[in-house]
Amino acid sequence: MKVLVIGGGAREHALCRSLSLDPDVSALYCAPGNAGIAEVAELRPVDALDGAAVAALATELGADLVVVGPEAPLVAGVGDAVRAAGIPVFGPSAEAAQLEGSKAFAKDVMAAAGVPTARSYVCTTPEEVDAALDAFGAPYVVKDDGLAAGKGVVVTEDIEAARAHALACDRVVIEEYLDGPEVSLFAITDGVTVVPLQPAQDFKRALDGDQGPNTGGMGAYSPLPWADPKLVDEVMELVLQPTVDELRRRGTPFSGLLYAGLAITSRGTRVIEFNARFGDPETQVVLARLRTPLASVLLNAANGTLADEPPLVWRDDAAVTVVIASHNYPDTPRTGDPIEGLAEVAAEDAPDAYVLHAGTRREGDAVVSAGGRVLSVTATGSDLAQAREKAYTAVARIRLDGSQHRTDIAAKAAGLG
Ligand code: AMP
Ligand code: GLY
Repeated sequence: MKVLVIGGGAREHALCRSLSLDPDVSALYCAPGNAGIAEVAELRPVDALDGAAVAALATELGADLVVVGPEAPLVAGVGDAVRAAGIPVFGPSAEAAQLEGSKAFAKDVMAAAGVPTARSYVCTTPEEVDAALDAFGAPYVVKDDGLAAGKGVVVTEDIEAARAHALACDRVVIEEYLDGPEVSLFAITDGVTVVPLQPAQDFKRALDGDQGPNTGGMGAYSPLPWADPKLVDEVMELVLQPTVDELRRRGTPFSGLLYAGLAITSRGTRVIEFNARFGDPETQVVLARLRTPLASVLLNAANGTLADEPPLVWRDDAAVTVVIASHNYPDTPRTGDPIEGLAEVAAEDAPDAYVLHAGTRREGDAVVSAGGRVLSVTATGSDLAQAREKAYTAVARIRLDGSQHRTDIAAKAAGLG
């Protein structure tokens, strides 16, 4: 099977790494990719948002499957363009991707499907904003309706900050604050059959102790030793299957990866958000634990034959990933700094720990930073404590001027504080 992966972050590196280890995959391409993905896949330049260009590339390569990694191309209809060219796509249509592309759409689907989520108002005027902030009280949760790369959400005790963010957005969702730990649960679906993956936890704040601004994610781990063993079954029944059924009922079936961001509150599990693609950095730890070869699962989802897929098989290992970000991330990250220590990790820590590239590119012999999140170091171990130790041992070998990373990824879950 020839597979083309669209995107160029650590999530796509994790996907390409797994696909490159799958004996069913005879050729693997990634567009546009990054310096690390180039080691496991053949890179092709493409504008990932240009459906016609992606479809032409997939046709030229004779791809049997196209996997669209990030949300922006999905929302832009890249999956539809490739499907129209007769090539199976792992990833939803533009219409179904509105589940991520519009918070208001997601709320509407959840209401229709009876999926538990925060109570909310969609506001377009300052009067509506004030009324909604008043109705819920502090802490205030204010979400830009559209795609905002993890930066459209403000959670604050400060009503002026909440109001200012709301007024800066055209359309805003203001909702009830949900307390309790967060869980990311991914499911693969063909629009009918839903196959949940293992849950993970992401660390969204920039700094240790969940301080600092929201980011795209600074680290993740799986499994969740503290979670109720029935969590996955419960979320399947209350959230994932009803959402997939509702989108099919509307005539916009969702196929691809359905990502439920959940809060485990004292009043039960609630959906914080849906995403329409694999999460980053959770994918790095979830795929590190998946034993089943990935390609046929993704192809069956793309072809509507997921019911034929045997049950997924998981390793007993735990996995931890730690993101290394540039100087000044998430504000205005500095790029172009050389990254050193990659060869040492490959020599000393593989195969238990390895580097997945996010924002990197090659400059002559050097690999330099090219984005806010630069790379993520992923490690597996017999338990979370061991996986985390291996991950941080490898992190310590990476040298990138001004870089930052959290030192407390998975610490609490591993029983370390
Ligand atoms: P989202 O982009 O909707 O996932 O929001 C980003 C982050 O903001 C989430 O991971 C949560 O940490 C936080 N957040 C979003 N909605 C809520 C909510 N209703 N209550 C508490 N925290 C929230
Ligand atoms: N880890 C959060 C995201 O992928 O949106």
